[in-house]
Amino acid sequence: MKRIFPSSFYNIITLIGAAIAGISFLLIAFLMTLEALEESPSPYMGIITFIILPMFLFLGLLFVVLGILREHRRERLGKPHGLHLPIVDLNNSRHRTAFMFFTTGTVLVFGIGGFTSFKAYEYTESDQFCGETCHTVMEPEYTAYQYSPHARVGCVQCHIGSGASYFVKSKLSGSYQVYSVLFNKYPKPIPTPIENLRPAQQTCEQCHWPKHFFNEKEHTNTYFLSDDKNTKWTLNYLMKIGGGNVEAGPTSGIHWHMNIAHEVTYAALDKERQIIPWVRSRTPDGKETIYRSTEIEVSDDSIARSFQRRMDCIDCHNRPTHIYHPPARSVNHIMALGWIDPKLPNVKSVSVKALEFPYTTKQSGLDSIKLYINEYYKSNHPDVYASSKVAIDSTVAEVQKIFSRNYFPEMSVNWKYFTNNIGHLYYPGCFRCHDGKHVSPEGKVLSKDCNTCHTILAQQFEQDTLRISLGGIEYHHPVDIGDAWKEMNCSDCHNSNQ
Ligand code: HEC
Ligand code: HEC
Ligand code: HEC
Ligand code: HEC
Ligand code: HEC
Ligand code: HEC
Repeated sequence: MKRIFPSSFYNIITLIGAAIAGISFLLIAFLMTLEALEESPSPYMGIITFIILPMFLFLGLLFVVLGILREHRRERLGKPHGLHLPIVDLNNSRHRTAFMFFTTGTVLVFGIGGFTSFKAYEYTESDQFCGETCHTVMEPEYTAYQYSPHARVGCVQCHIGSGASYFVKSKLSGSYQVYSVLFNKYPKPIPTPIENLRPAQQTCEQCHWPKHFFNEKEHTNTYFLSDDKNTKWTLNYLMKIGGGNVEAGPTSGIHWHMNIAHEVTYAALDKERQIIPWVRSRTPDGKETIYRSTEIEVSDDSIARSFQRRMDCIDCHNRPTHIYHPPARSVNHIMALGWIDPKLPNVKSVSVKALEFPYTTKQSGLDSIKLYINEYYKSNHPDVYASSKVAIDSTVAEVQKIFSRNYFPEMSVNWKYFTNNIGHLYYPGCFRCHDGKHVSPEGKVLSKDCNTCHTILAQQFEQDTLRISLGGIEYHHPVDIGDAWKEMNCSDCHNSNQ
């Protein structure tokens, strides 16, 4: 037999190693071609192509080297040269059986091995794995997600996306996460913002097409005040969610200004990006306007050194799926549905208070809510307590439900920890910039006018006339606070315990 390689190559260990490495290499080449040909490759392919097969490849190469080293050692020790490969004679029935056994076995091992690693991989990508395996750690994110508009969108669609590079990045940081969970090293709550979240163009915009944001969206909100009668009032407004499609003529609205035509860059003083002293907007023709806060004193120098970022979806929609609702909002919603009976005296304020105590465990929260609400009616409204037991019980059940979906004492998660940048009532949100106090050198102001972002169509208090206009009415704050709602940010009052 003519030998191409040095004789030390020809030993059983090296040859097996070479076979493993060779097969792995061919498979990698095959899968990479497949991935290149496919328009949006499944993220599932990544692990096989870039992690599992290369592991086999390196293992094979390791065998090759080990075999050669072993052979050299034998040579040095003067042992006979190693090519002691068995001679297989397929006419010999014992050899034939062994051969059949060996080949079938090999095929099976490769087949099953490949299949199970694929399944293992698929599992690490599943919402169950992401959300349930580390149960307490991810419970807040997973629970909020299940009740959100994205409940049918997999975790990986936003957190990883397609293609190999983010896949590898996320698996590397994922391994660190598994380690930190095992050794209890993770911070509670899990910190946000996520530093290396994939750019929104490659996640959100794969499903939502900014060019196709049109028109306005009507909101009808029902509120109940924290008074004895739970005074009800309603508000209708049109949210100007228009986007931009230049081909279809001039359009305007929140998305057009923020994303497609304009480039908005801002500087933030804190990691959560809540304090924004400096904003630059650049139009497509290159005209720049710089707005600076008249309230936050910072030098040009520290702005140059601060964190700067070009605005994208996440700067407004930072909580598209892990939404922890403020208690007043959840309770208003359930009361509007009638599941918490608005006829129970003071039920709005009692429900909100019951939710807001600083409980230390989920169970103690659930128990205390029941106790607190029952106690309240027993001692303050004994007649109601006697006559409306059913309504009180269902209030308890609904408040407990709100609690278990929005409060996670074990991880210290609640609506106050995670700011939501959409809107301006409970968090600074849009008013981080649009507070009427960000001014350009030419005197242009980032407007806080109530009909800039939405048109307030109608507002009605329980005993009052309906005020309505398609052109937008003037807002009336539900309780008399003078002009404070025009001068302060809404969240200055609404984010504190009322
Ligand atoms: C619609 C897209 C989307 C989906 C689907 C999604 N997430 Fe998120 N996730 C986000 C965004 C956006 C953030 C916050 C990013 C930021 O502020 O930096 C986030 C943040 C997180 C955080 C950090 C803590 C926090 O609350 O900010 C964890 C943990 C997390 N997600 C886990 C999950 C898990 C587990 C799933 C699936 C059960 C999932 N995510 C599904 C978009 C998504
Ligand atoms: C895999 C596709 C997919 C991805 C990726 C995705 N979304 Fe969505 N999004 C949806 C679907 C489906 C809905 C629900 C539409 C419905 O029910 O009308 C939705 C709804 C929404 C809504 C409307 C919510 C509401 O209250 O009605 C917003 C806002 C939104 N997504 C923002 C985002 C942002 C921001 C990201 C990126 C972090 C993102 N989405 C990523 C598919 C996706
Ligand atoms: C300036 C802040 C801002 C930015 C940036 C932004 N949005 Fe929005 N978006 C909003 C607001 C405000 C609404 C309306 C929310 C509401 O009606 O409650 C909205 C609504 C939406 C909706 C729901 C539309 C509907 O018909 O109900 C989707 C989907 C959405 N945004 C996706 C995106 C995506 C994707 C991006 C990034 C390309 C993005 N948004 C960037 C502020 C923003
Ligand atoms: C980082 C600062 C920043 C934040 C946060 C921000 N905006 Fe803006 N917004 C701007 C800038 C800058 C402009 C462009 C002003 C100009 O014309 O130069 C703008 C313009 C707009 C316009 C167009 C106004 C007009 O004159 O027609 C709307 C509508 C708007 N923003 C809505 C929103 C909404 C809704 C939010 C919150 C979800 C929001 N913005 C959050 C900086 C911001
Ligand atoms: C920069 C844009 C912008 C400006 C200016 C603005 N709003 Fe809003 N407002 C929003 C957005 C966005 C939401 C929707 C929040 C949501 O869907 O959760 C909202 C929601 C509201 C709501 C309902 C809040 C809730 O969650 O129940 C009220 C009330 C409101 N705005 C009043 C006002 C008043 C009063 C002014 C004038 C002082 C004003 N807004 C100015 C963007 C704006
Ligand atoms: C000086 C403090 C203060 C400011 C500033 C303020 N509010 Fe209020 N707001 C209150 C108080 C107090 C109530 C009554 C709370 C209750 O009865 O539960 C209230 C009630 C409300 C409610 C009904 C709340 C609910 O839980 O059902 C809405 C909506 C509201 N305010 C909107 C706004 C908006 C929008 C702004 C900013 C433009 C704003 N407020 C600014 C103090 C304030």
